[in-house]
Amino acid sequence: MRNCIIFCGGSGSNPASFCPVNGCLFTLATGSVLLSLVAMLHGYLFCLPFSQFVYPLELDFNRLVLELESTPTASSVSWAVPINNKNFPALHPNSNRCANFEVGEGSKYRLLMLIKSALPNFAFRQALRATWANEINTATVQIGYAFVLGGTHNSTAQAAVDREQITYGDLIQQAFVDAYFNNTYKLMFAIDWAAASCPGADFILFADDDYYVSTYNLVNLLGQLQANGYTADSLLVTGHVFSSPVPKRNLFNKWYTSLAEYPYTFWPPYPTGARF
Ligand SMILES: *[C@@H]1O[C@H](CO)[C@@H](O)[C@H](O)[C@H]1NC(C)=O
Ligand SMILES: *[C@@H]1O[C@H](CO)[C@@H](O)[C@H](O)[C@H]1NC(C)=O
Repeated sequence: MRNCIIFCGGSGSNPASFCPVNGCLFTLATGSVLLSLVAMLHGYLFCLPFSQFVYPLELDFNRLVLELESTPTASSVSWAVPINNKNFPALHPNSNRCANFEVGEGSKYRLLMLIKSALPNFAFRQALRATWANEINTATVQIGYAFVLGGTHNSTAQAAVDREQITYGDLIQQAFVDAYFNNTYKLMFAIDWAAASCPGADFILFADDDYYVSTYNLVNLLGQLQANGYTADSLLVTGHVFSSPVPKRNLFNKWYTSLAEYPYTFWPPYPTGARF
């Protein structure tokens, strides 16, 4: 690798005569592969067994609530500092989007579909509006949906979103930069929004804008869950669950996670993010 850098990067001489491009690329690639193998080996050798797993914020909620109640002016306590306390401003809070859910129509249950969408994916949103996101109401279920967006520094793109909202009124948007690696913020925003603006929902589906969801099958599944005694108060998360997922330790993996970020052999079981 060093040779390659000296010859290819050297000025004055003609690099091509010293280092054929293929050779250079090959050496660079070999170097990268070695580096990534070492990182991977390190990642797998030095991780902690999952049996030692402690979620950083496993809190005594009784104690937390009591302490907060005893000092009404305090908004937090020193021993329970949130990991993510992001309060990005809302660009389109759309807090009336669920108003019809509040009316509560007899024995109907309410399903809210929150669709994480990338800012430029207008065509995807149109396709979903014309197909599965289209609100349906049957004798047993009332369905609502909203597209969840982040923000942008590009004012042309933001103006397009504002126009889309005027036409369709089905967007919710918060001011973090809309980017793949901000998906966590997007999900946190979606959950916060559902809790604050749509407390009447009995079930919430989180889905991505490049998915097809069979609302028919979904409604069937929810019917079965209800028949088995699940209610809005049940603690149920369902989806395609990865039961013992291994963190990616390869530097070049899209989902690479360092030991400093997360030191354990496995992730806790979780449903894949695209629909749950
Ligand atoms: C801003 O957004 C518009 C519309 O989406 C796009 O055509 C343009 O290339 C973007 N500008 C920059 C600097 O990214
Ligand atoms: C995520 O959003 C934050 C807040 O807007 C921004 O500073 C950061 O650059 C974004 N991340 C990516 C990967 O764009």
